[in-house]
Amino acid sequence: SDSPSFDVAVIGGGPGGYVAAIRCAQLGLKTALVEKRKALGGTCLNVGCIPSKALLHTSEQFEFAAHNAKASGIEIDGKVSLNLKTVMEKKDKVVKQLTGGVDMLVKKRGIERFEGHGKLLGDGKIAVDDKEALSAKHIILATGSTVVDLPFLKQDGETVVSSDQAIAFDSVPENLVVIGAGAIGLELGSVWARYGSKVTVLEFLPNVAAGYDPDVSKLLERSFKKQGLTIHTDTKVTGTTDIDGKLNVVAEKKGKEIAVPADKVLVAVGRKPFTEGLGLDTVGIDPDKRGFIEIDDHFKTKAEGIYAIGDIVRGPMLAHKAEEEGVAIAELIAGKSGHVNYDVIPNVIYTEPEVAGVGITETQAKEKGIEVKVGKFPLQANGRAIASDATDGMVKIIACAKTDKILGGQIVAKGASEMISEIVTHMEYGGSAEDLGRTVHAHPTISEAIKEAGLAVDGAAIHSL
Ligand code: FAD
Ligand code: NAI
Repeated sequence: SDSPSFDVAVIGGGPGGYVAAIRCAQLGLKTALVEKRKALGGTCLNVGCIPSKALLHTSEQFEFAAHNAKASGIEIDGKVSLNLKTVMEKKDKVVKQLTGGVDMLVKKRGIERFEGHGKLLGDGKIAVDDKEALSAKHIILATGSTVVDLPFLKQDGETVVSSDQAIAFDSVPENLVVIGAGAIGLELGSVWARYGSKVTVLEFLPNVAAGYDPDVSKLLERSFKKQGLTIHTDTKVTGTTDIDGKLNVVAEKKGKEIAVPADKVLVAVGRKPFTEGLGLDTVGIDPDKRGFIEIDDHFKTKAEGIYAIGDIVRGPMLAHKAEEEGVAIAELIAGKSGHVNYDVIPNVIYTEPEVAGVGITETQAKEKGIEVKVGKFPLQANGRAIASDATDGMVKIIACAKTDKILGGQIVAKGASEMISEIVTHMEYGGSAEDLGRTVHAHPTISEAIKEAGLAVDGAAIHSL
């Protein structure tokens, strides 16, 4: 056929795919990028990381103006009210600026863009919207993930929704029920609570943000409750019912049945790999029972010349993980030694306070039989936190009991998302808790709590007992 041929074709233009394409082009490979959305950037830029962070920002400003300004000596004359249309327009503008930026980068790098649904035809050939369109020596699959449904609570996009709709409600729901106290549930639950919804979060496990240590989760839960969120943990959602003509979500909490009225239900119980219509069967790739594509340490699938990265493969479903894999696979294809350090991938939930973690938790250390020393420092003892009304939080460092090497860290703080990079960097270079404790930190900063937690590993914190 006379369709164009490339060194590399990438299917999926999210953080995994577009970054892989850019790195391939940088390394001199003739590269094509197939994406079905009009805008590049995938889930993250279009309906994920970026719009949710824009809403978290504006809702925090609203919350301050409406409820907290007065205590800071700011008297607002008249009523503080919400213009949700402006909020959404601002969010859309942020998304547009970023997807436009990626589009420009991809163009300037000489990457050829194919708009439409990509499908593997075998022998390196790819169809776009069912027409054979290109071929490539190497194919990178980066088709990302999609929402998960609950069998007894099917999403209708109107009342029972996913994050796709919950980042774009056109009015503030009076009662919002959130199923799942993970990243999406806590972030979007916080957004709508700040805008005035009565938010109830129902979580199956004993703790919110279940990937963190229980002391961290408990601290967060207390803080969210202070902010007006109702949180039920150890709670199993079983279905819905009508009470006086109103939709209620029904759940079982420690053997007792509860019913929560809902104008909207946000289902946030995880995401699953998306490979629909990708033609995997044509090339002999059989996803595992959860839908993930199996790969080896070099991102190779079972099919010759076909690789997979990002949300469709093992590991955390995070944008920065997908990006790192995008860089690594491009380097491997170009004959270099691309590599991802999976032991130090940070994880953040962008609530107020934020929670961030990296490496292993204390719980995981116990499970794995690793002997650790733990240092903690509460933000109530940090000057900058006190001066900034940000004392809800702590830093926790987990170090090897024998070598003092940092194995993990968790931070609950305003700005934890930025602070975690320090622990990540120390870990990347094999740093010890003592290294953290001996590193000079500017005063006053909330980051000093990281230094103090490092010192606390050996009982040597200066500003706490
Ligand atoms: P995706 O970003 O999903 O991109 C895949 C792309 O492939 C999509 O654009 C899709 O249209 C396209 N595609 C699929 N199939 C085909 C096909 N056959 N042909 C052509 N194109 C195709 N992660 C973080 O790290 N930080 C956050 O703050 C964060 N917030 C989030 C908030 C929400 C509400 C959600 C839903 C997710 C969030 N995530 C966050 C997760 C993050 O969005 C994903 O981990 C990340 O986007 C994965 O990147 P990816 O490239 O693997 O896939
Ligand atoms: P999640 O995996 O973070 O949380 C899902 C929660 O739902 C878990 O606590 C789980 O125990 C609970 N759950 C599962 N089934 C349930 C049930 N039947 N009833 C009640 N609770 C139930 O998934 P989430 O929040 O949907 O996010 C999806 C993905 O997107 C995650 O992998 C996450 O990494 C990513 N994401 C990342 C963000 C970030 O980095 N800040 C923000 C938003 C999403």
